[in-house]
Amino acid sequence: MKIYRAKNYDKLSEKAASILGAEVISNPECVLGLATGSTPVGAYGYLKKWYRMGLLDFSRVKSMNLDDYKGLEPDNEQGYYYFMRKNLFCDINIKPENTHIPDSMEPDSEKACSDYERIIEESGGVDLQLLGLGHNGHIGFNEPGEIFEKKCHCVTLAASTVEANKRFFERAEDVPSQAYTMGIGTIMRARKILLLVSGKEKSGILNQVINGPVTPKVPASVLQLHPNVTIIADEDALSEA
Ligand code: GLP
Repeated sequence: MKIYRAKNYDKLSEKAASILGAEVISNPECVLGLATGSTPVGAYGYLKKWYRMGLLDFSRVKSMNLDDYKGLEPDNEQGYYYFMRKNLFCDINIKPENTHIPDSMEPDSEKACSDYERIIEESGGVDLQLLGLGHNGHIGFNEPGEIFEKKCHCVTLAASTVEANKRFFERAEDVPSQAYTMGIGTIMRARKILLLVSGKEKSGILNQVINGPVTPKVPASVLQLHPNVTIIADEDALSEA
C-alpha cells in the first residue's frame, strides 16, 4: 500500500485528481471505477477544472460506479446517477452511454447484479478504481460481515450507514434500506485502486484498514492484499495510523 499524506482536504483532492487525470492521459480509453459520497467531490472539482483548461479528454473514457441505492428513480436527487451527473458528468465530455451504474430501478436483485457484473467484465475490467471509506470500514456498500462477497450483490445497509447517509435525505426514513454494490472481488479485480479518506472521524477505522488484520469485519482491510493500492488521506484521517 502506498500512503500519501495530504496536508488538508484540498491537497488530498488535487493529488487524487492528478492520479485520475494521469490515467486518462496515458490511457484515453480507460475504464474508471467511480465513487460517490462527499470525499471524492473535491477531486471531481479538479477534474472538471482541468477539463475546462483543455488538459483532459473524456470522450473515450468509460466509467463504472461502485454502487447505488435499490429502488431510487434515476432522477432522484439522492440517487448516485444524479450525484455523478451533478458533480462530474455534466461538466466533462464523457459520453452518457459510456457511464455505468447498477440499475437501481431493477427490482430483481439477482438480475441487476449479474447484469452489472457482466457490463464490467465486457468493458475489459476497471483500470483505476476510486474508493471512499465508510465509517464502519465499508467500501462501495460492502458492509462488515462474515465473508468477503465476490461479486456484485444486493445489501441491506447497516444501521450506522443509514445514520451516516441520512444527512443527504430530507427525513431519515427516506434512506433506502438496500443497495446494489460491486462485490469485494469486483473491486479487487481493478488493476489499480485509489482510496481517499478525510477527517478525524475516520482516523480510527483508517488505522484498522492499514494496520489491523485482514478481515471482512473491516471490509477495506482487504486492500492490504491488492498489489497496487494508493491511499490518499489528510493529516486528520492519518492521525491514529
Ligand atoms: C457511501 C458510499 C460509499 C462511500 C461512503 C463514504 O456509503 N456508498 O461508496 O465511500 O458513503 O462517504 P463519505 O465520503 O461521504 O464519508
